[in-house]
Amino acid sequence: MSKEIGYSSSGPLLLGVMGDPIAHSKSPVMHEAALRAVSLPGSYVPLHVKPEYLTQAIEGVRALGFRGVNVTVPHKVNVMDLLDELDEGARRIGAVNTIVNNNGVLTGYNTDGIGYVRSLKEEAVPDLKGKTILVLGAGGAARGIIHALLQESPAQIIVANRTPDTAKQLAGEWSGLGNLIGCGNDSIEASLKNADVLINTTSVGMHPAVSDIPMNPEWIPEGIVVSDLIYNPLQTELLRQAEARGCRTHSGLGMFIYQGAYAFEYWTGLEAPVVLMREAVLRSLQGTL
Ligand code: ATR
Repeated sequence: MSKEIGYSSSGPLLLGVMGDPIAHSKSPVMHEAALRAVSLPGSYVPLHVKPEYLTQAIEGVRALGFRGVNVTVPHKVNVMDLLDELDEGARRIGAVNTIVNNNGVLTGYNTDGIGYVRSLKEEAVPDLKGKTILVLGAGGAARGIIHALLQESPAQIIVANRTPDTAKQLAGEWSGLGNLIGCGNDSIEASLKNADVLINTTSVGMHPAVSDIPMNPEWIPEGIVVSDLIYNPLQTELLRQAEARGCRTHSGLGMFIYQGAYAFEYWTGLEAPVVLMREAVLRSLQGTL
């Protein structure tokens, strides 16, 4: 084979995703489509790993010669202690979603935040430099996204959270990386007056509670960009209300596709076939939603 895969392995490429639960993950369908599209022999399998077996499962990645795995809920934080090396971003964010196996040396990366930002730039805001961004939520997903957004030199990122201290603590921790402010949800209305982009990282509005909304939609200024990390449903109540106010909207599907695209590129050294990956996930979602 003439393709450079950046990995000297004989036999098919072994990939997978570890989580608990895992049956509903769309990662297998997305990565299987990607492998076929670039004609790489290999498989990407769902791996149901209970928390008490995580150590053995990671040992299994080495023992079985997996080239890499994705890691999802509830293992993204606990897996960090089991790896040989951590990418700097993953270390700062405090979570790993992608592991690369280089001849038995396991390195952890976080592609969630960079995947989200790549999708936001391609689909809604090509240049984030100088923008004022309001992020709702300060949990694990927010950390990944805010870390990646800070690399884009925005004018300011305001993090509003139900528990204000979590947002303030995060702003303090990363004060050296950019202009970051933490506050409570009572500051959302005032913060939105100057915002160019609003991003929901909370789970409010996710299936099955699809009519829930994380804030009063009347506060959304006309014409800004509103983004939601949720992709089930593809159009959340927040995005529906934003669209009615003439806002440009951006769903969480792109983040899912691009976190997978970065992982695929780390494992194979090949450009990820994102159009085909998106089509495969959409087809699968349409079959089950
Ligand atoms: P994830 O890894 O998906 O970000 P998480 O770490 O549990 O999950 O974080 C969830 C975030 O959504 C938190 O910021 C949480 O606020 P708290 O820090 O106050 O818990 C926020 N969140 C979850 N449910 C919420 C709700 N019903 N209203 C407002 N914020 C909510």
